[in-house]
Amino acid sequence: MNATIVAMRRSHIDALMPYEHDMFGTEAWSRGSYRAELVDTRTRHYVAAEGPDGELLGWAGVMVIADTAQILTVGVVPTARRTGVARRMVDDLLAEAVRRGAREAFLEVRVDNLAARELYTSEGFTELGLRRGYYDGGRVDAVTMRKELVGS
Ligand SMILES: CC(C)(COP(=O)(O)OP(=O)(O)OC[C@H]1O[C@@H](n2cnc3c(N)ncnc32)[C@H](O)[C@@H]1OP(=O)(O)O)[C@@H](O)C(=O)NCCC(=O)NCCS
Repeated sequence: MNATIVAMRRSHIDALMPYEHDMFGTEAWSRGSYRAELVDTRTRHYVAAEGPDGELLGWAGVMVIADTAQILTVGVVPTARRTGVARRMVDDLLAEAVRRGAREAFLEVRVDNLAARELYTSEGFTELGLRRGYYDGGRVDAVTMRKELVGS
């Protein structure tokens, strides 16, 4: 997929909202949550992936506080999956985290989200352990993953 990675803007929020609930279910964020995230540029870095006509292909965000990064969200629209869009966005987030001084990155992912677990494993994250009942009102566990960041 010929994707361009750009800084996420408010117009991207409108474009992603139709996908948000289907993709994240009980963990879906509201438009207001995304707006608040974009405002906090001191600790947040959000990107969007656009196709050749400017259409939204994906979005992702990271929080960096002191020397620790936390991947907050990664989503790719169904028609653009398995073309490397998520990988490019995650690479961008981690590169920015390193520029901001992060030495390690963490994330949580649903135990049943095998696609995302594969993505993060292939990006060099390793599984630290489980957070019991982290999702869906206590019904689904999270796997916590960590990556040591090179170049920090
Ligand atoms: C998980 C998700 C972000 C992956 O996006 P993507 O753009 O399709 O991923 P990429 O094409 O960059 O794939 C990178 C690697 O991830 C792994 N991967 C991605 N999707 C996979 C799948 N369905 N099954 C197995 N591995 C998968 C593979 O290792 C892949 O490398 P390869 O294609 O060379 O084998 C996407 O499926 C998605 O948006 N899912 C719904 C939202 C979600 O679960 N977000 C993550 C929350 S933590």
